[in-house]
Amino acid sequence: MAIILGLESSCDETAAALVTSDGEILAHALAGQEEEHRPFGGVVPEIAARAHVDAMTPLVAQAFEKAGLSVADIDAVAATAGPGLIGGVMVGLMTGKALALAADKPLIAVNHLEGHALSPRLVDPSLAFPYLLLLVSGGHCQLLLVEGVGAYRRLATTIDDAAGEAYDKTAKLLGLGYPGGPAVETAAKDGNPDAVPLPRPLLGAAEPHFSFAGLKSAVLRAKDSGEYARDDIAASFQAATIDCLVDRTKKALHSVDDVTALVVAGGVASNAAIRAALEALAASWGLPFVAPPPWLCTDNAAMIAWAGAERFAAGLVDPLDIAPRARWPLDADAAKARGAGVKA
Ligand code: KG4
Ligand code: ZN
Repeated sequence: MAIILGLESSCDETAAALVTSDGEILAHALAGQEEEHRPFGGVVPEIAARAHVDAMTPLVAQAFEKAGLSVADIDAVAATAGPGLIGGVMVGLMTGKALALAADKPLIAVNHLEGHALSPRLVDPSLAFPYLLLLVSGGHCQLLLVEGVGAYRRLATTIDDAAGEAYDKTAKLLGLGYPGGPAVETAAKDGNPDAVPLPRPLLGAAEPHFSFAGLKSAVLRAKDSGEYARDDIAASFQAATIDCLVDRTKKALHSVDDVTALVVAGGVASNAAIRAALEALAASWGLPFVAPPPWLCTDNAAMIAWAGAERFAAGLVDPLDIAPRARWPLDADAAKARGAGVKA
């Protein structure tokens, strides 16, 4: 059994965790940055990087203390090396390099998206490859065929905004503040999902790509019209988003053979209504549905340690001069989505 230290700092969560190759989470420590970013209504990269510098080392010490372990007890250090806000990624990766060098342990540079993609196997060890993954976060909205560790085939992506980005922008438009996803989910509970007629971009399209920019513009028009209550707009936005996620995932299910399960991961996957809709889709398809618990869907270091454990078991370690990457697609061969802007 191997013990892996995981470090995460690619966006606005600083985190450290110790996880075993058997899938036991020995300790996890996390610090959010809501207070720092709230005055600006979103994540400010420079502020995020500085907050990671302040938080990372104490969190590493906290994780070791909680687990009753020291750096001599671990087998490898796994750190997010991208994609993400580069200042933050550098903080976690450099901390990982320093620890690996000082303790003479191997370094594993983890793709943050791989952390999300493999996290369901941390909570469900019976989840076997290949599975269909809907990866929905603040920066990404993708359907991936997860064929193995390091083997990802991207079936679809967003041609404009990510699902989490749409939640965050909707929250801002509705004055629900930051962080936006949980605020919209809460407001939606008190609203009527049929109150506002909103578009379902790309619904029924042949390829399972996503689009949310038009939905966001329609939310803005609905708000400016003054005709609708805030919670009704939130509920209608969420209903439209769910329709799109379910339709596009169904389209992808048609295109793959023999997947073992339908899986959802990433921050947006912590949304209860989205989970319920995907669970119903999986049931109608006769497939098991796997979603990590909400705290493992939003950014954390346990998923990075676990991806590190999976890579370590496969003999995949990295040199200490590996560079951080702001952009790092999981499937380097994926074709650009037709109509996609720079954010594909
Ligand atoms: O995976 P994550 O923590 O960070 C990235 O890698 O992007 O995802 C963050 C995104 C944010 O856009 C946030 O608004 C969204 O996940 N999110 C939610 C919920 N909780 C977080 N979206 C909808 N409903 C939620 N409950
Ligand atoms: Zn993430």
